[in-house]
Amino acid sequence: MNEIVFVVQSIILFIPALIANSGAVITGGHFVIDRGRKFIDGRRILGNGKTLSGYAGGIAIGTFTGFIIYLISGIFNYALGTYGTPADAIVIPFIMATGSLTGDIAGSFVKRRIGIDRGGKGGLLDQWPFALMAFLFLYAFERPFFMDHYFYVTMIVILVIVPPIHRAVNIIGYRMHKKDVPW
Ligand code: CTP
Ligand code: MG
Repeated sequence: MNEIVFVVQSIILFIPALIANSGAVITGGHFVIDRGRKFIDGRRILGNGKTLSGYAGGIAIGTFTGFIIYLISGIFNYALGTYGTPADAIVIPFIMATGSLTGDIAGSFVKRRIGIDRGGKGGLLDQWPFALMAFLFLYAFERPFFMDHYFYVTMIVILVIVPPIHRAVNIIGYRMHKKDVPW
């Protein structure tokens, strides 16, 4: 198969990891994960922006999106790529989305440690941890799929395109009054 087509398909199959963040914005706001507690440095462990409803809702929406991508791709003879079996089309997006939102939490933990408050501009700390953790989760739990699709050219391509995509989506979220800040 044409290598560029395969890279594009692999990017499309990664959409659940991206959508998970938007899903968290929509479903978030309930059951703050750190329950207001502070770390030994006196700052919040994670902050009010990391909630269980956002985590679970984002995972659910990401997983659902992956399955829809699979179904749509199936209509077109898998031109958009495939996760494999219908079961894979649930499990792999679930792993990606879970990794994504776990990485998002890790990013917030680091932001708090270096003194950036909840919602403060984190630059790559807002944009890379979720993608890196999605890759790590795929490596841990869906290794053949990871090796086939993301190791290593597509992973680099995704890490390059994710910051501008993240920024654009957040500007849209801000204009739609879903987010308080455009980053
Ligand atoms: N959100 C959530 N739970 C999560 C992740 C996100 O409820 N696990 C919701 C919150 O309402 C959050 C919004 O999605 O404010 C945007 O997410 P994000 O930009 O990651 O959070 P910030 O508020 O910017 O906080 P931080 O500085 O910790 O990233
Ligand atoms: Mg943010």
